[in-house]
Amino acid sequence: MKTIIITGATAGIGFEAANFLLKQKKYNLIVGVRDAARGKAMTSRLIAETQNPNIQTLPTQVQTLPLDLSSLDSVRAFAEKISATEVYGFIGNAGIQHPEGLVRTSDGIEETFGVNHLAHFLLVNLLLKKYPALQRIVITASEVHDAAYKGALGISVPPPHYTTADAAAYPTDDGKSQVENQRRYSLSKLCNVFFVYELCRKLQQAGNQRITGNLFNPRLVPGTELARSFPPPIRFAWNNILPLFADRHPRVRSAARSGRDLAKLIDDDSITVSGKYFDADEITATSKESYDLGKAKELWDASVRLSHLKPDETIF
Ligand SMILES: NC(=O)c1ccc[n+]([C@@H]2O[C@H](COP(=O)([O-])OP(=O)(O)OC[C@H]3O[C@@H](n4cnc5c(N)ncnc54)[C@H](OP(=O)(O)O)[C@@H]3O)[C@@H](O)[C@H]2O)c1
Repeated sequence: MKTIIITGATAGIGFEAANFLLKQKKYNLIVGVRDAARGKAMTSRLIAETQNPNIQTLPTQVQTLPLDLSSLDSVRAFAEKISATEVYGFIGNAGIQHPEGLVRTSDGIEETFGVNHLAHFLLVNLLLKKYPALQRIVITASEVHDAAYKGALGISVPPPHYTTADAAAYPTDDGKSQVENQRRYSLSKLCNVFFVYELCRKLQQAGNQRITGNLFNPRLVPGTELARSFPPPIRFAWNNILPLFADRHPRVRSAARSGRDLAKLIDDDSITVSGKYFDADEITATSKESYDLGKAKELWDASVRLSHLKPDETIF
């Protein structure tokens, strides 16, 4: 059995990825959950849907541990609590959007940047330090990281505007513009891309060819809980109308299909590349901006400071 740590598996794409991995009957899952009741409901659904008798007889096969990615202390506590002797893979899939306003984490950082990027940055560093045998890292990004992306089915997000990590962490606007609030989401997804590219450069510089880091773009996956903070009419369309296009329109996917594609980046042994962006199951280029070495390095260095990552907490 290989151990996989995953964030954001209580719902949507992450749940389906966990579901797929469990069906392979060769993985133990450790799932970070911020709400114990939702963690329990997830485990029950996984048992019911995978019908894997081992889950009932070996309850450690799906282990939930408290993790609130909007708290750096919680990220550190989660990493410490993991008691697996070895970890094979990490999927950083949790993500949020706050179209309704400017929300900050308990550390005072804008929450979209804090949860989608900074918490995963910290967690990956802590895990690499604790588990030198960790081999596969996958982070869920999005095509909205690309300012040139035009959207699908008329759904688009304002393009990212990256200046510095501090500007992303501590925005100075009043949070009243839905456009700016949504732009924080595309910005956080660009940060995912900068982060994984810089991580892979650092691994390469360190001569480490064993650990792979890749990005996953699910395409548009309506019906997940990602639209939970949107106004009711948008939520209605997201949950009831847009899913009709899933797996019929080339840019629109069901959570089940998307979760499978995500899980394969861990499960498929023929995938040995690193530093790549998987658009569903195809490797494609990312935005021109995402290859900006200066911005990626600035984000990394600032993320070390913003997450208070100490020299003895990282392998770099
Ligand atoms: N759906 C799409 O069209 C789409 C497109 C491109 C990229 N993505 C990306 O795909 C990923 C999954 O999205 P989804 O659509 O499946 O969304 P979802 O259904 O809302 O799932 C999000 C997951 O993240 C978890 N999460 C959120 N905030 C957290 C926090 N502070 N601490 C711990 N866990 C937290 C949620 O847990 P709770 O149960 O506690 O809420 C949930 O499990 C995200 O990274 C998203 O940006 C989605």
